[in-house]
Amino acid sequence: MEASDVGHRSPPSPLRATRSRGLSGRLRPPGDKSVSHRALILGLLCVGETQIEGLLEGDDVLRTAAACRQLGARVIRHGEGVWSVNGAGLGSLLTPRETLDFGNAGTGSRLMMGVVGGHAVTARFDGDASLRKRPMKRILDPLQLQGARILEQAEGGRCPIVLQGTSEPLPIEYRTPVASAQIKSAVLLAGLNSPGRTTVIETEASRDHTEKMLLHFGAHVVSDPFGEHGRKITLEGRPELRASKVSVPADPSSAAFPLAAAVIAEGSEIVVEGVMTNPLRSGLLTTLLEMGARIELENRRVEGGEEVADIKARYSPQLRGVDVPAARAPSMIDEYPILAVIASFASGETRMRGLSELRVKESDRLAAIAAGLAANGVEWAIEGDDLIVKGGAGEVKGGGLVETQLDHRIAMSFLVMGLAAREAVTVDDQSMIATSFPSFRPLMEKLGAKFE
Ligand code: S3P
Repeated sequence: MEASDVGHRSPPSPLRATRSRGLSGRLRPPGDKSVSHRALILGLLCVGETQIEGLLEGDDVLRTAAACRQLGARVIRHGEGVWSVNGAGLGSLLTPRETLDFGNAGTGSRLMMGVVGGHAVTARFDGDASLRKRPMKRILDPLQLQGARILEQAEGGRCPIVLQGTSEPLPIEYRTPVASAQIKSAVLLAGLNSPGRTTVIETEASRDHTEKMLLHFGAHVVSDPFGEHGRKITLEGRPELRASKVSVPADPSSAAFPLAAAVIAEGSEIVVEGVMTNPLRSGLLTTLLEMGARIELENRRVEGGEEVADIKARYSPQLRGVDVPAARAPSMIDEYPILAVIASFASGETRMRGLSELRVKESDRLAAIAAGLAANGVEWAIEGDDLIVKGGAGEVKGGGLVETQLDHRIAMSFLVMGLAAREAVTVDDQSMIATSFPSFRPLMEKLGAKFE
């Protein structure tokens, strides 16, 4: 399977969601996007066969698979979600002949910049109109300290970028300027091929999938607490990486959509199975419980080194607005669009603090959320980096046309709104949903969701 062209290259394809009462049933969302990218990348960096089960076959991850091939790995799909990677090995990447085209994928491109930055190869990175707007300087800055060189870049450190890596990355200690697992991971991945020790300090802990995956593949990584909410991660360079088996748990960021739909659509009761409950990803669950959502975690277990659970969600007519602290943002950074939708159905105000990073996601998510809320009759305000949503106590007018701005999570969030609003909600383009949750529509339809 090859990466397909989505988004800016195909004509927009609108989709409409109409009120759907009594959602019911069980579903398993696809594999976690963050873990899927990392499994392929670590596979590229080992000699021998890495076997992956439950890989997300979304466009973003397929782009990473294609880039791994271009850098010298043999990547084979054996069946749904079942893939193998025969790696080129640490220190032995090939120089890609063509541009590494990451489409819409911020994570894939940024992590792979780390890999390239720490190897004696030169690669050109590019992507779609959304990726071309995203800031890459935050990745290029530390990579340059490690010894990589930027041969070409668009204005402000944006794609297309030509990056020349180094065969001897310098051991550095780097403090990330914002809580970002992508920055942390790029530095660590470049540091893998360093003859010394690489340290990353983050004052707010971000998702730790790279550290966990590195440990799983045999690298020496130590993660210590730093300050009140931070971490100090130390990696010994040039480890003997072992090709491994990876089982990818279901993506909590995708699970958020059916869970939210069940909470706001009258008479619903669903179970979402095998969802990763890593505490650095579960901020939305914490927030939903505070809001009074009827959510229960069942059958908690560990699968493939990650905590998972089946999550039961029921219609929750007593949702109340809450104050979401800025410190929680890293653990739910991708869930603010759907939280804003849920908050529209609560009684009272929900204040989400410290959302500056939302401005540099697949779209300016703060602006895209606000425009979507306004189009559907929901009152909101932005104060500095805080978003305030005024809930309609179970009633949202709907009826709007939402501009998705090449952003999959904006598309899915407002479709979920349409399942519970009085009037149908239309998104201008559903195609980007394929980047992270290609089975969104059929899985939601199985629960009883109505789209047309
Ligand atoms: C990701 C990290 C987050 C998140 C993105 C996936 C990752 O970005 O928004 O969807 O897999 O490392 P930042 O680390 O830049 O916040």
